[in-house]
Amino acid sequence: MTGGPVRRAAAGRRWGLVLALGCAAGHPAPAAAQDTAAYPRPDRPVARIVAPSWTGEATRDDAGEFARVAELLGIRRGMRVADIGAGSGYYVARLAPLVGPEGRVYANDIVPRYLAQLRERVTRERLGNVSVIEGTPGDPKLPAATVQVALMIHMYHEIEDPFGLLARLVPAMADDGLLGILDMEFPTAQHGTPPPLLRCELAAAGWTFVALHETGASEYVATFAPPATAPSAAQVRARLAARPCRA
Ligand SMILES: C[S@@+](CC[C@H](N)C(=O)[O-])C[C@H]1O[C@@H](n2cnc3c(N)ncnc32)[C@H](O)[C@@H]1O
Repeated sequence: MTGGPVRRAAAGRRWGLVLALGCAAGHPAPAAAQDTAAYPRPDRPVARIVAPSWTGEATRDDAGEFARVAELLGIRRGMRVADIGAGSGYYVARLAPLVGPEGRVYANDIVPRYLAQLRERVTRERLGNVSVIEGTPGDPKLPAATVQVALMIHMYHEIEDPFGLLARLVPAMADDGLLGILDMEFPTAQHGTPPPLLRCELAAAGWTFVALHETGASEYVATFAPPATAPSAAQVRARLAARPCRA
């Protein structure tokens, strides 16, 4: 495994094995679907959306970023992967050949201009197994019971409605699906998310911490398994009242 030390917590899911075998029925969303109340906003700054990519693609390839993340998350041929906050498509262009024609990449973003450029890239590079999906700040709008690996790369700190988005991602996940979040250990106002804050917010949304991989200077990939059902806004509020998540 690439990257630095790995700290594991009880995951409760044999995601590695099942990722290799494919998906099953997915996670129902009765609570979230019936709860129309807004999810609480995070009690910390949300970073502004400033660009559709983190850094230059050649620099990232030279640093081995994509290969390292794909290996850590067990992404292989035939898998269905969602790139939430895909931006200009650094991951999308590399995921498409990796998962191959039997697999699918769901490339999600919320900025229409970024999405238009991404669609052009998908057409230009003939990435026939990529679906570009326009989400909202609180809903990735991914197909139900489908996603084996969901990626959030350099974007978690920009999500205006993280609890809503995390709740509405649950029904899109295949059984034993995995969420991988890559971010910097900086404060959220500086385009990072400190790992304890990330774990607190994911726990409030019902996601189970799996592992934290240190992947570079101040950079990490954290992985989480989805809850069996999506939490309601009231459930998230109650968890945050019992255990507040502050920067
Ligand atoms: C810094 S860019 C990173 C893009 C890409 N993941 C990368 O690593 O190059 C952050 C992206 O996340 C998108 N974003 C922000 N909030 C989002 C949300 N709630 N849902 C989906 N995408 C979002 C932004 O529009 C932007 O394209």
